[in-house]
Amino acid sequence: MDNTATINIGDKSFTYPIITGTENENAVDLRKLRAETGYITFDEGYGNTGSCESSITYIDGEKGILRNRGYSIEDLAKNSTFLETSYLIIYGELPTETELRAFKSKISSNAVIHTNMHTTFDGLSANARPMAILSSMLNVLGCYYPQMASNNREQDLEFFDDAAALLISKVRTIAAMAYRKEVGLPFVHPREDLRYAENFLHMMFSEPYKLFEDKAGLADALDLFLLLHADHEQNCSTSTVRMVASSGANLFASVAAGVCALWGPLHGGANAAVVRMLQQIHASGDDGKKFIEEAKAGKAKLMGFGHRVYKNYDPRAKIIGETVDKVLGKLGVSDPLLDIAHNLEEAALNDEYFIERKLYPNVDFYSGIILKAAGIPVDMFTVMFAIGRLPGWIANWKEIASNTQSRIHRPRQIYTGPNLRNYVPLAER
Ligand code: CMC
Repeated sequence: MDNTATINIGDKSFTYPIITGTENENAVDLRKLRAETGYITFDEGYGNTGSCESSITYIDGEKGILRNRGYSIEDLAKNSTFLETSYLIIYGELPTETELRAFKSKISSNAVIHTNMHTTFDGLSANARPMAILSSMLNVLGCYYPQMASNNREQDLEFFDDAAALLISKVRTIAAMAYRKEVGLPFVHPREDLRYAENFLHMMFSEPYKLFEDKAGLADALDLFLLLHADHEQNCSTSTVRMVASSGANLFASVAAGVCALWGPLHGGANAAVVRMLQQIHASGDDGKKFIEEAKAGKAKLMGFGHRVYKNYDPRAKIIGETVDKVLGKLGVSDPLLDIAHNLEEAALNDEYFIERKLYPNVDFYSGIILKAAGIPVDMFTVMFAIGRLPGWIANWKEIASNTQSRIHRPRQIYTGPNLRNYVPLAER
């Protein structure tokens, strides 16, 4: 096959190379289009735009395949842990025993937050939302490590290993502090002897005279939740991180921006939106059928369904869906929301509207039910997503920062405003 594509504009033809990825994904390389033709491409929502070449994550949305650095998400979910997968995503290879030990030790020894940051927490409104706190505090964190957040690429890369471990560790402390602040409880210090997710649960739920006891294996369920969220290609928040990083901004600022992008209900905020939707359906006495009809009529959106890339079952949703029953069983909890979720899923998977549009459950559909069972408040669900996604953001920041050929991300637009007008003085308007 000819490895080029030809575009005809008027009576002129322009030829562009085709780029092929390692999984045979093809793209027409239009980087010279505007310079050669004066035209730009228009692709609102970027559904057809490859914004970068990346070796981190591969998704085949038609087949429901997700691989991090070549390893399938099913393989990682079964055999790996969140921290090992984080290492894989950030450094490209599974760690040796020594490498993993060093990585974990750097993470566990970095969990404490500078006490001056506590006063920043004190200054926040009592109504501050956990995602707003998280984003602000990640940026504030950079102020405590100016050598790692210099906005000088070479220097930021020199300190990258420390900055990455520090962020993965402290994001968990900040998240727990955000929760304790919201409910008006004193902060709980991290413990070096606990595993990653265990330590988080300890900082969330321990009391001075009553340490949190994980009787139902919640830490394992949480670890799996975090692993499943660790990276997901060029989604809205990761693209945001890359966009910010492309200007030369440091890792702390870039991931803080990622948190903001994740917050919205069409992205990471969907896990909270799903539970709110299920609660509303439950409160109205519906078993899900009425809601499905409303979604089909465009009066409601079935949160946790549909995906820009997956036109098949999201493989992460499959894993979480299988885990949710086990977790609730271990906890001895029966949640009526789970029954409604099962009803909605069954109804949607058999309904022509959803079949035609290839709308399947995504990762957020069942994950909120696990988090709710673990005692995590709904407001914190998207924060949990952010903790999980951090390694992906870090790896993407590194990929762009280490690429000496990378250019600032600066899309163009089609201007639709007024043509040149003359200024009218205030008195004449
Ligand atoms: N419920 C009902 N109809 C839907 C839904 C839904 N959840 N999602 C898409 N549709 C319909 C949509 O109305 C459109 O119908 P029509 O062709 O008649 O106009 C069609 O399906 C195509 O949808 P789209 O809006 O063009 O899809 P998109 O790729 O722009 O949006 C999405 C993807 C995930 C934002 C969207 O499916 C959605 O809003 N889902 C609910 C929110 C959600 O669960 N988000 C989490 C995504 S997974 C986690 C993550 O990685 O962020």
